[in-house]
Amino acid sequence: MAAHRYDQAYFDKWYRHPQHRVSTPALTKRKAALALSVAEYYLERPVRTVLDVGCGEGQWQPALTRLRPGLRYTGVDSSEYAVRRFGRSRNLLRGSFGDLAVLDLPPSYDLIVCSDALYYVSREELTLGLGVLAKHLGGVAFFEAYATGEALKGDIRKLEKRTPEFYRRLFRKHGFISCGSHCYVGAQLAGQVTALERGRSR
Ligand SMILES: C[S@@+](CC[C@H](N)C(=O)[O-])C[C@H]1O[C@@H](n2cnc3c(N)ncnc32)[C@H](O)[C@@H]1O
Repeated sequence: MAAHRYDQAYFDKWYRHPQHRVSTPALTKRKAALALSVAEYYLERPVRTVLDVGCGEGQWQPALTRLRPGLRYTGVDSSEYAVRRFGRSRNLLRGSFGDLAVLDLPPSYDLIVCSDALYYVSREELTLGLGVLAKHLGGVAFFEAYATGEALKGDIRKLEKRTPEFYRRLFRKHGFISCGSHCYVGAQLAGQVTALERGRSR
């Protein structure tokens, strides 16, 4: 489990404080609209199920359900605070990236989200978690990650510095094929992505 620092003060600072916040409901809404559109383009139908790992307070839940009212959202986060405060209202489960296998998740999700969280996860957890997510991906994954060389704002002290090549290799190893703008398809939709849609392979 991640340390207790993902407490209310953390979320107040980075999501609500007028001077420090780096994320807003408007930004989350734009990301949610992008992820839904890409998933629905490849699935050729509306998104019905979403798994959001490292979901924090479940900020994506209201954004997604406003855009697709019937959608079933499940969030997973290691923060005791976030799950206690929003678990019931937003359907959040307590769990860590490396321990997803123990959660007994349904076999397939149309959209898997991991937004602004991958670089807080250790290498070991990353490999374990991506292996599990690859098995549960029926549609598109939105893996928002930033690598070395990016000018980042926000909670960067505990950020794991990893190269773009590191992430590309890891995603490729687990069968995630880049189709642009933080989006990846898995094995089930691999045949739908054309050569020019695919991101760089090395
Ligand atoms: C910057 S917040 C992002 C929250 C949300 N995904 C968003 O886009 O606003 C990072 C989140 O990752 C979670 N986290 C960090 N390490 C984790 C781990 N190993 N397993 C699960 N969640 C983790 C933290 O608890 C925190 O809620």
